[in-house]
Amino acid sequence: MDGIASTAPLIRDEIAALPDYNAGLALDRFRAIYGLECRAKLDSNENPLGPSPDAIAAIREAAASVARYPDAANMALRTAIAEATGTTAETVIIGNGSEDLIGAIFRAVLRPGDRVVTLCPSFGLHEFGALACGAMVEKTPFRADWSFPLDELKNALSVPARLLIFSSPSNPAGPAVSEVEFRALLSATPAETLVVFDEAYLEYVEDAARFDALRVLADAAQPWIVLRTFSKAYGLAGVRVGYGLASAAALVRAMMKTRNPFGVNALAGVAALAAFADRAHLRKVTDLARSERVRVAAALAAKGYSVAPSQTNFFFFDTGGPAAHVAEALRHKGILIKAWQEDPYCNWARVTMGSQGENDAFLDALPVRGT
Ligand SMILES: Cc1ncc(COP(=O)(O)O)c(C=O)c1O
Repeated sequence: MDGIASTAPLIRDEIAALPDYNAGLALDRFRAIYGLECRAKLDSNENPLGPSPDAIAAIREAAASVARYPDAANMALRTAIAEATGTTAETVIIGNGSEDLIGAIFRAVLRPGDRVVTLCPSFGLHEFGALACGAMVEKTPFRADWSFPLDELKNALSVPARLLIFSSPSNPAGPAVSEVEFRALLSATPAETLVVFDEAYLEYVEDAARFDALRVLADAAQPWIVLRTFSKAYGLAGVRVGYGLASAAALVRAMMKTRNPFGVNALAGVAALAAFADRAHLRKVTDLARSERVRVAAALAAKGYSVAPSQTNFFFFDTGGPAAHVAEALRHKGILIKAWQEDPYCNWARVTMGSQGENDAFLDALPVRGT
């Protein structure tokens, strides 16, 4: 290192203090590290059926034109989403995954010292992206029975907050907020607070529990952004596309300045458009996840594990000890799940609903609790 200055003073304190992102392990890295074939990749909430065949055909066709930049305004996809959701293209934004949009929102609105209210446990980027902007993040825990902590959130919002952000259904916990709870939360949220409602797992919610957040938000006093993704039920995690629906075109215009102009590449744009149109494939995907989550929840309970209720394509369960140890033991059997690394949930792990074969492999490899 002689003659090379340390880079430490360059890095902003907020960034130096952030943990590394707890990402799932890509298959080629798993093979390289463990020298094994993966039997069940259940650590990233991916879709075991993959995308619509129409999306793959669209990628093949578009591959011939990759010398050209894509449309930076993403108009074709914005228009299709606007038509399907009953809004206008100017209030829709596309991102390089919805995580790109989470960052774009934070960069557009957060000032150092701002308060951001969220749930705990939560999707890490809801917290880290805000901390990176110098905001203070206040995390409201779910109740012990995994019911929605409405009163506690209302309390957190009794002090001015720039932003309220949470996912419903929740990653990693699984439950979804009800329409009644969501309306009650909005009525207790200050009119100046930006409400970011992350619906990455919306498609998996059972019909009886589902409500149209856009209809509820249409009457809200606050500015809002709903986030959705093509990475989960649409099976396009690898090409990176997510979208946001905003209460005002001005919010979209601001986020267009804080995201990368060409972040949504040409292949991603056409794949998302084709996947969005294939409702029959989407139905197959969500039917599989819903039936598997009933079967796997019963099997986990039979093995003695406490499991949070889920409206998603995954479960959060108490492993009974440090989850990192359980996940590591499973990796040596070719099974990938995600050990949670957020206090006080370090004994909890999240397991995705894969194919029946993957889920069986996971259940076979997981010991009865406490043995
Ligand atoms: C709640 C939630 N929001 C956003 C994302 C980001 O998804 P993507 O960037 O793949 O669209 C994820 C991914 O796991 C998630 O769980």
